[in-house]
Amino acid sequence: MHQDQHFTHDTQSLPIIKPHLHGAFPPNFLWGGASAANQCEGAWDEGGKGPSIQDVLPHGGLSPRSAAPTPDNLKLEGTDFYHRYPEDIALLAEMGFKVFRFSIAWSRIFPNGNETEPNEEGLAFYDRVLDELEKYGIEPLITISHYETPLYLAEQYNGWVSRDLIDFYERYCRVLFERYGHRVKYWLTFNEINSVLHLPFMSGGINTPKEQLSEQDLYQAIHHELVASARATRAARELAPHAQIGCMILAMPTYPLTPSPQDALAALHAEHANFAFGDVHVRGTYPGYFLRMLHEKGIKLNITERDREDLKNTVDFVSFSYYMSTCASSDPSRGESSEGNILGGVSNPTLTASEWGWQIDPVGLRIVLNQYWDRWQKPLFIVENGLGARDELVEADGEMTVIDDYRIDYLRAHLEQVREAIADGVHILGYTTWGCIDMVSASTAQMSKRYGFVYVDRHDDGSGSLSRYRKKSFDWYRRVIASNGAELENS
Ligand code: BG6
Repeated sequence: MHQDQHFTHDTQSLPIIKPHLHGAFPPNFLWGGASAANQCEGAWDEGGKGPSIQDVLPHGGLSPRSAAPTPDNLKLEGTDFYHRYPEDIALLAEMGFKVFRFSIAWSRIFPNGNETEPNEEGLAFYDRVLDELEKYGIEPLITISHYETPLYLAEQYNGWVSRDLIDFYERYCRVLFERYGHRVKYWLTFNEINSVLHLPFMSGGINTPKEQLSEQDLYQAIHHELVASARATRAARELAPHAQIGCMILAMPTYPLTPSPQDALAALHAEHANFAFGDVHVRGTYPGYFLRMLHEKGIKLNITERDREDLKNTVDFVSFSYYMSTCASSDPSRGESSEGNILGGVSNPTLTASEWGWQIDPVGLRIVLNQYWDRWQKPLFIVENGLGARDELVEADGEMTVIDDYRIDYLRAHLEQVREAIADGVHILGYTTWGCIDMVSASTAQMSKRYGFVYVDRHDDGSGSLSRYRKKSFDWYRRVIASNGAELENS
């Protein structure tokens, strides 16, 4: 099919968009998958790595931390990517991946987070991962901080509540840009930066228990993270001029539960809580609705002149995760659903949900893509999407596999909406499914909540051989990539 949508990856300047009315994916679309160090690497104390906050979250980010790492924490061994990365990357290459998103464990590079010199063994590990990706021509997409603040910074500094973390993080970023900047183009500063509103320990390394954390401290921590993210962008301009820096937002479109204006306003407030993070990253200043909210809560942020200057270092692109949408109601008796991906909300009666209560809404992805593009006019990157489900390993044609038609249906329905958004004229750089090789869940630390195209033989009780098996979706995704999305219908 003739491609009439031309984007360059020079995201400094706005692309000239000619919407593709046939809705085809652009020729340079980056297809791939995503992971996070703490959920797949394991080797939590090997290679000079210090403990991270994940090592004391044995039951996931939704549960309280433990005093110290405990053997029941599946993330300590993960799925052993630390030792098996050549085998894993070969599987990604077999699917035809164009891009692989992974995170660098901060405490592999700076074991406590506040050292002045990095840990060479940690840096060398990621050299080897990059070598392997290069071998197959797979573009790396690196998350600098994915829910893995060094534990020391949480315990000694109260995480991002402390202004000191800005300097520690900048030092860490500078080391990464100096070491890998010549071979890595796409970088994300903080995974789902807005999730700190709801999970201050997992997302922001804030040790004060959530119920005791003041809003003053929470918003000051958010400010520090935003300044740190902007400082990373500035450092990249200096040390890795070809790098493209993106922010990363947990996207969850919020619909009014009813057509009442009050519910529409409740939905707008919920959207604003998340938009604010993108607004600062893209525009370099705090939006008025955010300043009003702070004022009404009696919060006075310590924002220095230098902070204001730093924030002007805005991002090249906006990335986000998308799993579900939610609803908002002005009626407090409707209550908040306790289920879903980190952010709260009221259940939508028109949607079905996954076994973990995440409401499935492919059209919501098209809505988010249009909202973000209209709002920010920055290229977008969908860096997480997928279905967490229980899989059963079975034998078919002499091979062990998983017949995961439910996962294929979920991904196909979402990709069809991505294609619609492309036809709407939205500029999308690529799409990486979450957990392309099964890994430990972030919210519950279960192995049984699987997202991958590759099954990993490991179970909630820690048993299993860690062997890898291709699921039915493996070949489906391979065909989708090989046809640049044209195979969606026929598969
Ligand atoms: C995102 C996180 O919120 O959702 C990932 O960035 C996480 O780290 C993913 O794994 C899926 O969530 P869960 O809790 O099902 O693993």
